[in-house]
Amino acid sequence: MDKLVIEGGRRIDGEVNVSGSKNGLLAVMPATILAPGVYHLTNTPNLRDVYTMSRLFNSMGAFCELNDNDLFIDTTNMNSYEAPYEFVKMMRASINVLCPLLSRFGQAKVSLPGGCAFGQRPIDLHLKGLEKLGAEVKVESGYIHVKADRLKGAKFHFDVSSVGATENLLTAAVTAKGTSHFTNAALEPEVTALARMLVKMGAKIDGIGTTHLEIEGVDELKPIDEEIIPDRIEAATFLIAAAMTKGDIHLKNTNPYHMTAVLSKLEDAGCVIDVTGESIKLEMKEEIKPVNIKTATYPGFPTDVQAQWIALMTCAAGTAKVTDTIYGTRFHHVPELIRLGAQIDVNGDTATVHGGKKLQGTTVMSSDLRASASLILAGLVAEGRTDVLRVYHIDRGYEAIEKKLTALGADIRREEAEELV
Ligand code: EPU
Repeated sequence: MDKLVIEGGRRIDGEVNVSGSKNGLLAVMPATILAPGVYHLTNTPNLRDVYTMSRLFNSMGAFCELNDNDLFIDTTNMNSYEAPYEFVKMMRASINVLCPLLSRFGQAKVSLPGGCAFGQRPIDLHLKGLEKLGAEVKVESGYIHVKADRLKGAKFHFDVSSVGATENLLTAAVTAKGTSHFTNAALEPEVTALARMLVKMGAKIDGIGTTHLEIEGVDELKPIDEEIIPDRIEAATFLIAAAMTKGDIHLKNTNPYHMTAVLSKLEDAGCVIDVTGESIKLEMKEEIKPVNIKTATYPGFPTDVQAQWIALMTCAAGTAKVTDTIYGTRFHHVPELIRLGAQIDVNGDTATVHGGKKLQGTTVMSSDLRASASLILAGLVAEGRTDVLRVYHIDRGYEAIEKKLTALGADIRREEAEELV
């Protein structure tokens, strides 16, 4: 198992290219099952989750090849409609193949995702929506079994706004017979990007970018080429790294419009931000001001930046409250940040961060993707050496993080770690 070793105290300074969005790609890849053929996806990030999805595709008879940031997928010879536990346990987003498999093969068998490091993550909406669309849904021996000769358009209201359920059910409704109306649909840029891709493939979707999607089912879709949107969470993580180290950063290949909540909170914290086209510049000269945040669905402050914001607030001059309304128990990074010397209390879905305590390097352990990002950020400002264990979590969602941070002036390296298990 690898670890990252960080010598703290270096300023983040320079230019960095933001990679393609992990969650954007994990939404788009399953849609390629819908129409057999060859797809070329550009701006694809090199990440462990992308390899996992590719291996799942290959296990079902498809062919995936990632060359640098170009992903070629050929779904012509897919011959299986089963996503086994061995893949789904590594990556929950595997559940996104459920509806495309059902549309293509008239049935699908996908393992239940099971637990998640940061709390319960039900999939009831995916299944309820499919039943509404006329599928027979059974859950047996840890697997979801769905069947339908052809789905039928239906009205479905999402009780909770869900990125994954909206994505999954969109890929079901596009080839259903008749019209579907989805209300309280998720608005996240990754959902919108998927909807736009489906339209390019021949789907008929009205209301893209709103919470009411009207989908008129079509008989056939066609393969296309698509560019993956920039990763707004990776971008936010680099901006926070610069803010924490009183640095000066220039992000390229971003979509600032997707990041307004984070940019506005960074300005409240004292950062000077300049946005032009696809670039974001951030400079931090003053003391970091404490800023409260509450995560929310898009365009609110993303839960996927909550852990990084807590790291930033450990350096603020005062106390800030960080509330996660999406995943109220997503605080596994907190005990590790406390080991680095941070003073944080967690009460229910809120962490109170008493900033200004000098962090001191030690060994800490990642428990999930964004928790590891938060620990790396803390390591950048901690005095001395910080070893972040179990970086396989970070490799799921940050392309070449240590290389990018090194190019920005950080002292960070990857080493093999011996861990007792
Ligand atoms: N929910 C339900 N029932 C469902 C589905 C969701 O109650 O059937 C609830 C969840 O418990 C949660 C809320 O709805 O409270 C939102 O969950 P959502 O379904 O939107 O999350 P997701 O689709 O499973 C995606 C991202 C996550 C990100 C969330 C929220 C992907 C692959 N994952 O998950 O990303 O945190 O949306 O924005 O797109 C990450 O990248 O680190 C990550 C965890």
